[in-house]
Amino acid sequence: KKLDHISQLPPEVLLKLFQYLTPEDLGRCSQVCTSWSRLTKMGSLWKHLYPVRWARGDYCCGPPGDLDEEPDEEWVQSRQDEGRAYQEWDEDADVDESEEAGADSVAISVVQREKRLLNGMIQYLLPAVGPSVKSIVLAYSSAVSSKMVRQILSLCPNLVHLDLTQTDITDSAFDSWESAGACGLLEHIDLSGCENITNLTLEKLSLGLGELRDLRKPEVPINLPAGPDCEGGVGARQALVFKRGPGSLVSVPMHVWVLDPMPPPDIEDVAEWRRNPDGRRGAQFSPPPASGVCCCRRRGFRTNSSTPCWPQYVTMGESAWCGHSSCCGVWEAPRTVETLWEAPMGPSRLRTKCQGPGDQRTRNPESLRRLRFLSLSGCFRVTDLGLRLLSQHGGLPHLKHLNLSGCLLITGMGLQELVLVCPSLEDEHFYYCNNINGPHADTASGCQNLQCGFRACCCSGE
Ligand code: FES
Repeated sequence: KKLDHISQLPPEVLLKLFQYLTPEDLGRCSQVCTSWSRLTKMGSLWKHLYPVRWARGDYCCGPPGDLDEEPDEEWVQSRQDEGRAYQEWDEDADVDESEEAGADSVAISVVQREKRLLNGMIQYLLPAVGPSVKSIVLAYSSAVSSKMVRQILSLCPNLVHLDLTQTDITDSAFDSWESAGACGLLEHIDLSGCENITNLTLEKLSLGLGELRDLRKPEVPINLPAGPDCEGGVGARQALVFKRGPGSLVSVPMHVWVLDPMPPPDIEDVAEWRRNPDGRRGAQFSPPPASGVCCCRRRGFRTNSSTPCWPQYVTMGESAWCGHSSCCGVWEAPRTVETLWEAPMGPSRLRTKCQGPGDQRTRNPESLRRLRFLSLSGCFRVTDLGLRLLSQHGGLPHLKHLNLSGCLLITGMGLQELVLVCPSLEDEHFYYCNNINGPHADTASGCQNLQCGFRACCCSGE
């Protein structure tokens, strides 16, 4: 068999050459032979993914640029026009199946191309290179769905930078972050203009970033039983469910769920509360504050704190529930206490569950909750309760940039509570509504959405 020159190159040299190719070229190379196909799926070639730009022929592949870099206005306008055209075509296609109707439109075909690219990545590329991916930029994508984002996040457990600006995703996109440390390496998340997300996303994010509390000092007293294995009854005041790992010399984190004394709500009750928020059977009501100190339009509804999706019981708008400890004094967040049995060589590492292939990894607790950039600009469904959920599990000690412009339901008190656990926050990178009397009012930057035109802002139209 006669070999050509290029096939005789050692794999490391070939890999070096592949680094100069565009994602499109790499796709072609992967079809040459089995060994090339294996080489083109090396993680080092796919650290930074820009599918929205790639679908339009812009094959950038370096790390994302400056944090404050605003995209070109013309580029944003083109993406919005494409999105509108695709949406109209998609709705028409549902009615008369006339898929041919808009096939000639450049805008529609570009979005279709982007959708094919995303599906291809999820199906063929990410299962191989997902753990190596550091950045994914999906800003202004008209094709991405919550399901796609959910798949991408579960395949890329070591993500550092995620940009979902101006997409139609919902809370379900972040389902894979529902375990502690699931996105523990995340440093940058941009959810600007994601109008469908609610406090639930912030709850998942906060949990996924990991736990920074001193694990050896539980916050609530727990009566540990004498035996090594125990299963307490659910609903008990101090219900315990924990198991000891194999071998008594191994450090094993235990999860002890401290549940509310109330029994879990009946599923029919919950359905009834949703239909009729005023007639919440089985719920406890706390008395309204004596003076008018509460800045929120809450109704004192207290739900069973052990139910994972409890924020959903609270309807938005008139009855939006702030979550302030001062106005909702009887509320207790669901608490997870982790205790660590001392290892003979010292308890310095926390074992967390990994979402991707390879499954288990060990992380230093100090490397968790590394978030530096968070933008919720225009996410008008977020309330003080979401900010509180975000500040749980050890706060955000590295957060420098926080954009809450257009978050119309938050208050100064909620902001204050969050800022207290963000010691690195820089005032020039701290944005919130001009009409909120919040922390660092003199030095913080104001609302960024005043001139935006397409993101929520209480001053739009003035
Ligand atoms: Fe109030 Fe923009 S949200 S000024």
